[in-house]
Amino acid sequence: MSDQRVYNFSAGPSMLPLSALERAGSEITNYRGSGMSVMEMSHRSKVFLQIFEETQSKLRRIMNVPEGYKILFLQTGASGQFSMIPLNLIGKTGKADYAVTGNFSSIACKEAQKYGQVHVAASSEDKNHTYIPTQDQLDLDPEASYFYYCANNTIYGTEWGYVPQTGSVPLVCDMSSDILSMPVDVSKFGLIYAGAQKNMAPAGLTVVIIKEELAGHELPYTPLIMSYKTMIEKDSMYNTPPCWCIYMLGLTLDWVEEQGGLAGMEKLKQLRSGMLYDTLDNSRLFHCAAEKGSRSGMNVTFRTGSEELDAKFVQEATQAGFVNLKGHRKVGGMRASIYNAMPVEGVEKLCDFIKAFDQNN
Ligand SMILES: Cc1ncc(COP(=O)(O)O)c(C=O)c1O
Repeated sequence: MSDQRVYNFSAGPSMLPLSALERAGSEITNYRGSGMSVMEMSHRSKVFLQIFEETQSKLRRIMNVPEGYKILFLQTGASGQFSMIPLNLIGKTGKADYAVTGNFSSIACKEAQKYGQVHVAASSEDKNHTYIPTQDQLDLDPEASYFYYCANNTIYGTEWGYVPQTGSVPLVCDMSSDILSMPVDVSKFGLIYAGAQKNMAPAGLTVVIIKEELAGHELPYTPLIMSYKTMIEKDSMYNTPPCWCIYMLGLTLDWVEEQGGLAGMEKLKQLRSGMLYDTLDNSRLFHCAAEKGSRSGMNVTFRTGSEELDAKFVQEATQAGFVNLKGHRKVGGMRASIYNAMPVEGVEKLCDFIKAFDQNN
């Protein structure tokens, strides 16, 4: 790691690959002979359009996005999709299924209720979202316009270990906090989206991968800016797209490819999370919040059971260069977000720190 960089366990925005940051740094005032920064370019200029198209095709290649799917680069955060999805998709039958397994799917579910009849197909609220429902527990409506779930629950530290089977009902998935962390079969989904600020780029970009045939049936009052059809037709350039973030995504994707693509990312994910969960399971003091079998490979939530000791842990960890380990206020305790760009060495050192704290307290 370069001098003075800390191990940043933030849930997002979070660490980006050092090589991507350094490349951006070296090009910040003069992008490859253009005489200007990417931040200063017209989004319709030849030089930026090349960045845009290359980033789109890198993502298509890395995620193996099939024909018939469009990749969109949008704004309004992942939360914008909570509205955009029902506005565009619920009209087909007027109904949608939602799996509520954490904070963000719960907000998305409530938002969708403004636009149609929403059925909670599964919920983990009974155990404070510490587990992921099994396929058998999903109460599916065959007439739903779509089935919505959030693949990784950033706050509670749980992750779906399977892709739900919903027959002919299209799957809509929030992958904000685990996109690019493993291979996924995009053809199983109607729509995948992710806020970029965890595994992809700085905040300000939302990536949407949509099966094109699903677009074009939006509710009549859907704002133009929130219409997938508009954005597909205009190739995300109905208005100014988040240019800088798209450029940064391209640099992150170069790094992902250098590490062996999504298979490489998955190996690293298993290595990092396996090490951390083993350390916590073998400790005297610490307990993991999520049930085994539902644990996230990206956000590891844990606690000692004593608020005082948790606070001491976070404070001493910060002093030792492991920052942003405090858990979300809804869960308390600690959370280590170990996204793609977290070096394995960062987790190794955190594990050593946890072991020492366990012995000394
Ligand atoms: C899984 C998930 N979905 C949605 C969001 C909301 O993202 P945004 O702040 O980009 O609206 C977050 C934010 O952390 C998230 O973790």
